[in-house]
Amino acid sequence: MKSLVRENDEILVNSAPKRLHIITFGCQMNEYDSQRMAQMLMDSYRLTPFPEEADLIIVNTCSIREKAEHKLYSLLGRLKGLKRTNPSLKIGVAGCVAQQLGKDLFERAPQVDFVMGPQGLYDLKRIVRCLEKGEERLLKTELNEDFDIPYIDVPLPRRGDVRAFVTIMQGCDNFCTYCIVPFVRGREISRPVDDILREIGSLVDQGVKDVTLLGQNVNSYGKKPSEGVDCPGLLKEIDRAFPGIRLRFTTSHPKDLSDRLIECFGRLGTLCEHLHLPVQSGSDRILKRMNRRYSRAEYLQKVEKLRSACPDMTITTDLIVGFPGETEEDFSQTMSLLEKVRFDQAFAFKFSERPGTAAARFPEKVAEDVKSRRLTKLLELQNQIGLEQYRRFEGRVCQVLVESSSREKLTARTRENHVVNLEGGSNLVGRLINVYIERACHHSLVGRILH
Ligand code: SAH
Ligand code: SF4
Ligand code: F3S
Repeated sequence: MKSLVRENDEILVNSAPKRLHIITFGCQMNEYDSQRMAQMLMDSYRLTPFPEEADLIIVNTCSIREKAEHKLYSLLGRLKGLKRTNPSLKIGVAGCVAQQLGKDLFERAPQVDFVMGPQGLYDLKRIVRCLEKGEERLLKTELNEDFDIPYIDVPLPRRGDVRAFVTIMQGCDNFCTYCIVPFVRGREISRPVDDILREIGSLVDQGVKDVTLLGQNVNSYGKKPSEGVDCPGLLKEIDRAFPGIRLRFTTSHPKDLSDRLIECFGRLGTLCEHLHLPVQSGSDRILKRMNRRYSRAEYLQKVEKLRSACPDMTITTDLIVGFPGETEEDFSQTMSLLEKVRFDQAFAFKFSERPGTAAARFPEKVAEDVKSRRLTKLLELQNQIGLEQYRRFEGRVCQVLVESSSREKLTARTRENHVVNLEGGSNLVGRLINVYIERACHHSLVGRILH
């Protein structure tokens, strides 16, 4: 759970009289959407990090796992109290839970004034105008297959951001059996190349130097014949137009990771040597039941190809433990895959049953204590591997991009996506500098500036 702006952020100053507080749950696509919402309202609302001084609060929600949904209800409970002290406060729920529950949210949380899904949020200005006229319980949750993602031509809500996200496609057509995303984000829709290039251009003008392209499945970007440019094609166009940036993309589905895309690593100067490639399980039996449409061997082969294109490449992943029917043998296959691939980082989750998905109807549920035990074992192994992987940078000189500073402490990032902590002045923010890596910690490196 994140506020779009924090206390010390330099918020784009405008003279708008009303105040807006946005809270974001979930993935980077939701963070991107929260920024768009702030931008859409920028001429009448200015952002505040404090919910208690807001006239409008928007909660952008995630329904990927049950826990995220629970957190939303406890937050809405707290926000209800604010309505008692400020009766004119309006509360909106956006994002994936909004899409999933629609008008039922008004019953479960009567303090909510409007509900809008991931496509509906582009109608935010009209919704807010209607609320201001006294209309109540506004709902916008249609999902259309031929939706065009609008271009929003307004500066970023925060000044001085060095990194930024650009959504290049929405939705997902894959229907992995555990996953709610295809139901709440709808079918895959790619944005036009020209919009993407224009948006990156505007970010670069605002000082952004590290751009991450976003989508639930970015490597199937432009897959409709009418769209013309595919993911490698898009990367090449961006690389040509903005040779000075660092470029990344996430998330990739292993089945759609083509040789042409792999070849982009090492060949395009802007493309950073990091790929997030969620494997989910190391067992073929479970991968099949998950409808992932690749085998363990195929996944390992792709990793090998990536590493031969780019030997120092960082590969990170997502894993699910306790999927229905997962036996000890299946789990040990996942553990052995971790040892084989040696990910720099892995995000592991206990399987969470999502309403309406195929896996919610699968028998052979795995008991909660078994899931917990497997998760702990997996994290223990990955922590050790991750640290060893990070140690490969000890004693090396790396070029890092400085992202932020706080009291002479800088946070920077390598091309391979490792966070580096070092000492230095705030004048270095936004600059590329060479650092000597002194030591590795869990999930970060400690460096020293080379003069
Ligand atoms: N589009 C991305 C993933 C998006 S969701 C992809 O295909 O890889 C992010 C991660 O949440 C997934 O990779 C998966 O590991 C996890 N996840 C999704 N549904 C889940 C569920 N029902 N229970 C537990 N974890 C889940
Ligand atoms: Fe979910 Fe699978 Fe689509 Fe990823 S590819 S969003 S895990 S259905
Ligand atoms: Fe969550 Fe929706 Fe993203 S379910 S992970 S916010 S696509």
